[in-house]
This record gives sequence, C-alpha cells and structure tokens, in this order.
Amino acid sequence: MIVLITGVSSSPGYKTAISLANRYEVIGAYNEHPINIPGVTTVKANVTRDYARLINDYRPDVVIHMAAIGNVDQCEEQLELCYEINVVASRNLLTTAYRSGSAIYYLSTDYVFDGERGMYTEDDPPRPINYYGLTKLLAEEVARTLGGSIVRVAWIYGTGPGRQNFGRTVAEKLMRGEEVTAIIDQWSSPTLNIIIGEAFEKLISMKFTGILHVVGPRLSRFEFAKAIAKYFGLNESLVKPIRLSDVKYKAKRPRDSSLSNKRAMELLGIPLNDIGYALSIFKKEIEMEKHT
Ligand SMILES: NC(=O)c1ccc[n+]([C@@H]2O[C@H](COP(=O)([O-])OP(=O)(O)OC[C@H]3O[C@@H](n4cnc5c(N)ncnc54)[C@H](OP(=O)(O)O)[C@@H]3O)[C@@H](O)[C@H]2O)c1
Repeated sequence: MIVLITGVSSSPGYKTAISLANRYEVIGAYNEHPINIPGVTTVKANVTRDYARLINDYRPDVVIHMAAIGNVDQCEEQLELCYEINVVASRNLLTTAYRSGSAIYYLSTDYVFDGERGMYTEDDPPRPINYYGLTKLLAEEVARTLGGSIVRVAWIYGTGPGRQNFGRTVAEKLMRGEEVTAIIDQWSSPTLNIIIGEAFEKLISMKFTGILHVVGPRLSRFEFAKAIAKYFGLNESLVKPIRLSDVKYKAKRPRDSSLSNKRAMELLGIPLNDIGYALSIFKKEIEMEKHT
C-alpha cells in the first residue's frame, strides 16, 4: 500500500513518515526544506502547482495532507498566500486524490474553535477567530465533503524538523538554566509529535473514518512549561507567569481551545492524558539528539 504524506518536512509529517515506513511504501512531499528519512521516498513538490503530479505519479492508496502555512501570525499578515496554500491547494490536492480513489486524512487544528468554552468534542460546531483557523476549517470542509477523515491536533511539540515549538523552546532554555515566560490564561492540549505518528499508524491500519481529536491533556502554557521542568528534573522556578494580554500577537488566540480526547483514547489505546508518558518520550529524544 502506498501512503503519500504532504508536509513531510514538518514535525508531525516527519514523525508520521517514520511511524508508517515499516509497514507501507511512504512517499513524503516537502517544499522548501529537503529531508531524508530512512525507508521513505521524499520528493520536492509545491502543493499549489504540483498536486496533480504528486497524485498521478505515485497513485497513493492513502493521502495524509499536512502541508500548510502553520504559522498563525503569518496567516493573519499574508491572507492571500495562506488562502492559496491552506484552502485552494488543499481543495485541488484532495479533489485529485478523491478522483484517483485515495483515502483522505486531513491534519487539522484546535484553532478551528473560538476558545470560549474549551474541551471541545468532535461533534461541537467550529467557529474560528483567526484567519489560520478559518483556512483550516475551509479545508476540513473539503476533506469532509470528499468523504475524507479529519485528525485534529494542538500545540504540537517534540524534536525533529519544522518550525521551533513552544515545548522544545522551554526544554532547551531550562536545560541552559535560562528563565522562560509562559502564559497562565491560555489553555489547549499540547500534543507530542511522535504520538501523532503512532496514531496515524493505527488509524490507517483500522481504516478509520470520521473526525478525531488526537491530543494530550488540557493545560495552560504555564502548566505545560512547569510540567516540562518537573519531568525533565529542571528548576521549575525558572518558569515565570505572564498573561495572554502581555503578548502582542498579530492574530487573535482562542483562550481555551483544549480538545476532548475521549474518543481517541477509546479507539487508539494510547495514554493521551498522561503528560508524564509523553514528556518521558520527549526527554529521551532531546537527550538522544544532544548525543548525536
Ligand atoms: N504547530 C502546531 O502546533 C499545529 C497544531 C495543529 C495543527 N498543525 C498542523 O500541522 C501541520 C504542520 O504545520 P506546522 O505548524 O508543523 O508548521 P511547519 O513546520 O511550518 O510545516 C509546514 C509544512 O507545510 C509544508 N508546506 C508549506 N507550504 C507548502 C507548499 N506551498 N507546498 C508544499 N508544502 C508546503 C512545509 O514544507 P517545507 O518546510 O519543506 O517548505 C512543511 O512541511 C499543518 O497542517 C498545521 O496546520 C500544527
């Protein structure tokens, strides 16, 4: 079976490719950041223009679409570009995949919700409050219309390629003995990238269809940073609280976009709510990286 992963040079794309490589023939598409992954064929393709080539050349049985502008503030500043990549390219790629008979999985985000309530389930109606969230929701709707599945994740952290993530910044600063500031009044469900890969491996083997929230437990940024300090055996007092209003983001942030992972826990048998489990894997990976 052939699985195509777009955005293989992102943190979730990379870990998903590694997790699937033992079982399937994996094709990973990157754009600006070439990447080598043992057992994976990586190919340069810009999804805005190369989507048909990707599908027609490789005829994937499964497409996991993760390529996007994931930077929330960049989306707010570059509306056209964000729409072209996150919506138009997604529509073109996924429609071509549908015509070719591929099963579709779309990686989405907690930011499709407004954050007024928190602990959103898969059945709750989305209502994005920033442009990134809107574009991801529009692409979700394309995926859903084509009979595809949606996997929502949040506040991804871990090692590997892609943009720097909050969890990693916190771990690296604390290991250097530096202070970190962390927001006390913004909550979501930080998710370790390797767990996203593990989840996709299970979802594909069970031919999952529908929407699923594959996320960690509800934490504020401050609680998350404290947990990293605790499980890494570092100085918790270096974590300093700030408020959401202290940070001048370009795009509005949902206050509490935490997601309920009840359905995913039942289905996948992964201890998603155990932050100690995820942080012990993360710690090992950071240590391994330091020694290579
Ligand atoms: N970061 C989070 O906390 C978070 C939370 C929920 C969902 N997500 C989702 O996770 C996915 C990865 O995002 P990220 O946040 O990890 O950001 P990222 O590191 O910037 O990754 C973006 C990925 O999309 C690819 N890409 C961008 N424009 C492309 C284009 N025109 N053609 C082909 N590929 C293109 C990039 O490839 P190159 O780097 O090779 O150009 C990269 O692999 C996105 O779907 C995002 O919505 C992220």
